[in-house]
Amino acid sequence: MSLPRTWWHNAVIYQIYPRSFMDSNGDGVGDLLGIIHRLDYLVELGVDIIWISPIYPSPMADFGYDVSNYTDVHPMFGDLATFDRLLAEAHTRGLRIVLDFVPSHSSDEHPWFIESRSSRDNPKRDWYYWRDAQPDGSPPNNWESFFGGPAWAWDEHTRQYYLHLFDVKQPDLNWRNPDVVAAIHEALRFWLRRGVDGFRVDVVTFILKHPEMPDNPFTSGVDFFNQITETPVMIHRYDVNQPEVHEVIRGIRQVLEEFSGERLFIGETWFFDHHELATYYGKNLDEIHIPFNFTLMKQPWDAAGMRANLRSYYAALPEGAVASFVLGSHDEPRLATRYGHRNHRAAGLLLLTLQGVPVIYYGDEIGMQNIDLPVEKIQDPQGKFNPAATRDPERSPMQWDSTANAGFSPEGVETWLPIAQDYEQVNVMLQHHEPTSTLNFYRQLLALRKSSDALRWGAITLLADQPNHALAYTRTLEGERWLVVINFADAPATLDCSSGGASGTVRLATYARPEDQTEVELAALELPANQGLLIQLAG
Ligand code: GLC
Repeated sequence: MSLPRTWWHNAVIYQIYPRSFMDSNGDGVGDLLGIIHRLDYLVELGVDIIWISPIYPSPMADFGYDVSNYTDVHPMFGDLATFDRLLAEAHTRGLRIVLDFVPSHSSDEHPWFIESRSSRDNPKRDWYYWRDAQPDGSPPNNWESFFGGPAWAWDEHTRQYYLHLFDVKQPDLNWRNPDVVAAIHEALRFWLRRGVDGFRVDVVTFILKHPEMPDNPFTSGVDFFNQITETPVMIHRYDVNQPEVHEVIRGIRQVLEEFSGERLFIGETWFFDHHELATYYGKNLDEIHIPFNFTLMKQPWDAAGMRANLRSYYAALPEGAVASFVLGSHDEPRLATRYGHRNHRAAGLLLLTLQGVPVIYYGDEIGMQNIDLPVEKIQDPQGKFNPAATRDPERSPMQWDSTANAGFSPEGVETWLPIAQDYEQVNVMLQHHEPTSTLNFYRQLLALRKSSDALRWGAITLLADQPNHALAYTRTLEGERWLVVINFADAPATLDCSSGGASGTVRLATYARPEDQTEVELAALELPANQGLLIQLAG
């Protein structure tokens, strides 16, 4: 299949959670100047695109995913001039900047909502979803917030409920009102004119709700995030993923198309049916450039399951579509925590050698782990509702070095979330000097990827099922051939990969051994427990 070669196709995305990346002014929270100071680190790492979680003014009820002004920068992060400088400094270094954009809901402190809630006949009343109580005073329907509890909040002043699919401080915008569409499109243009390279659009398929807002049904078996449940859970049938949302998405895409330079449209798309996910590329690839694929992330660490997932995903992609893979994010436990110490580098190898656009979550390239946080220290609104679901542990400050506060904030400052306890052993400075560190593993892998057309653009072929919990696939382009093998098990494995060729040279191992960089026979490939290898095949 021939694929278009645009600047973003097969680029590597690095997600920065700005509160936690680098604090330049000593207030315990990261900021834009901090990111500027660390751009050279990202160049050396070898990523192409930086996606920055929200930087807009916000009361921070959901740490920036509750926007109170779509066209400015939160003073905590800096100002527009600093943002322009970040953009310029990134571009000078060949890096691209993608902003997180949150159009499905605003903050309740956004002037639009303040107006909307001021009276029933305010011109902006219809910018949000206001509904009467049921006769017994209960909410208009049974919808639940994704953070927990009812999705409706009562406004005593105007005696109606408003809808919030997330926190009570995140009222949903009514995208069926053309004035809302126009206002959000203008906000997008504001950033596009400044020169941003694209957007990652937050819960983009949640934007429209069923016009009649019927009750949602319940099921048990599998929840919205594809996790097995024993107790009944709500099926989000009428509150999200309405078929008309494709039209809204095409509208956003058209705004991006007004600008030169192929601005990138990434969507946060939660689908576990690969065919459904694939529809968000659009019939003529006229919707989302990269609908994020979260399906591998929710897959247990199991070779057979991963293989089946990949087969199904690649088969579902429309002609010309670019695949994507997200394993870590600010919403999910870290790779080193989820897959464990022994497997997280193999997860990195998988992420960066599949065909498609991978996303690295900041800190995963040094093997940062979730922090332990006492319940009373929880800040995440989802965690306040359900401590077991808190996302704070994967959002702790970046571990730059072994000094106090890990080089994130100056010594003596209280950081907004605690620094991980392991920072003296796990940090950038230390790993920079250690040839076999996780950081150097990622750097070498990204360098190999950059130097090889086959690893970036080449076809992927999943080799037939391997014994002993192993996954094997080739990446090939015009005579250049690579083999990736990953042993998912805690025991050594011997694989027959002869369908990929007779022999090859190990160019990278997740855990380096003296015998690496030597020639290996593919008919009886020895793999230690939890090891992954990147092998260059003889031409
Ligand atoms: C997305 C974000 C998440 C946020 C939610 C509501 O899922 O990734 O962090 O809480 O949207 O905006």
